[in-house]
Amino acid sequence: MLKIINVVGARPNFMKIAPLMDEMKKHARIRPILLHTGQHYDDKMSDVFFEELRISKPDIYLGVGSGSHAEQTAKVMMEFERVALQERPDLIVVVGDVNSTLACSLVAAKLLIPVAHVEAGLRSFDRTMPEEINRLVTDSLSDYLFTTCEEANKNLQQEGISEEKIFFVGNVMIDTLMKNIERIKSRDTLEKLGLAGRAGLADRAGPAARDFAVLTLHRPGNVDVKETFRDILGALDELQTKIKIVFPIHPRTTKQLKEFKLWEMAKGMKNLMLIDPLGYIDFLSLVSQAKLVMTDSGGLQEETTVLGIPCLTLRENTERPITVSEGTNVVVGMNKDRIIQEGLKILNGAGKMGQRPKLWDGKAATRIMNILIEQLGLVHRLGYSVVS
Ligand code: UD1
Repeated sequence: MLKIINVVGARPNFMKIAPLMDEMKKHARIRPILLHTGQHYDDKMSDVFFEELRISKPDIYLGVGSGSHAEQTAKVMMEFERVALQERPDLIVVVGDVNSTLACSLVAAKLLIPVAHVEAGLRSFDRTMPEEINRLVTDSLSDYLFTTCEEANKNLQQEGISEEKIFFVGNVMIDTLMKNIERIKSRDTLEKLGLAGRAGLADRAGPAARDFAVLTLHRPGNVDVKETFRDILGALDELQTKIKIVFPIHPRTTKQLKEFKLWEMAKGMKNLMLIDPLGYIDFLSLVSQAKLVMTDSGGLQEETTVLGIPCLTLRENTERPITVSEGTNVVVGMNKDRIIQEGLKILNGAGKMGQRPKLWDGKAATRIMNILIEQLGLVHRLGYSVVS
């Protein structure tokens, strides 16, 4: 039996691990273990994703919770080391770029346990982003690096990572999106949110009829700096006079709005609809019917590209440039006037259409498993035949 520990910690990890776990379960001689570090712990940030994506309950829960970067990373490392020594897995699989990804890779590498990093090689070249540090360190320690685009392969090669370790396989997050697309399309999210007048308009009358925008914000660079956050809110204040903006708020963002005494300003905007974070299906249902998405999330840039929804990224850079060169994304920064200008362009019908990047076809997890089986010598050891 091959024992594989699959690590998740924060919201964007869950939709990436789901197709990998499904794929592993198809193999009788692989024992996948799901480990949740507990970096995200609220029902709305964690449990709801397990239910909606039908992911089995974690086999191991570390319960580390929130803290400074050092505290959180150290807590995951200490707890994960104990588990890794006890379980002695043959491989650990980490996804994305959150603190849990970095912490578990570091522990495994020191215990000489091979590490597979799914979504390797993405670079914003901006080391003020904690995720960029996590990506750089995780990739430098990983034995198998699975990438979503050819540019990521180039980034890794430029950092001196040997070509034999790098595999361009596509995008596991898009596997999950494609698997759930029918549920997403038929979900009554707009009715539930009281946007029912808008429900179904997109499907019946095309993009011109879509009459709401979706906003997400949670990056420290945006919500932990009062002036930047106020500037973004200033832009929203203007745009919400033209279109309703639905804003599912991340807990960090709620905290910062209150801390900076900007809560009243946000509340005062008649057409800015502040709601709790949504589960996976509801959120994608909302996004798939929107006229415009504004975000500082990484994953949402990819999901909007595949759904063909224009996206404005409220950051100075992106580690996912393929969503700009091929998809629907425009990186607009945090300047109030620029956000308004680019937002109005889309409202006037000039949003990018884009195309789906190569290998974002719903089969990334299958490719990853086939490669792992081959690379780990399982074809020989366990008598496997690999189906491509
Ligand atoms: C983390 C990831 C980020 C990812 C994001 C998705 C890192 C460095 N950052 O950022 O890459 O895009 O998740 O959401 O790993 N909180 C709650 N309930 C929760 C979780 C968090 O209230 O279940 C609050 C706490 O006040 C906490 C704060 O949110 O201090 C930040 O949480 P944390 O996990 O440190 O970072 P995120 O901003 O969520």
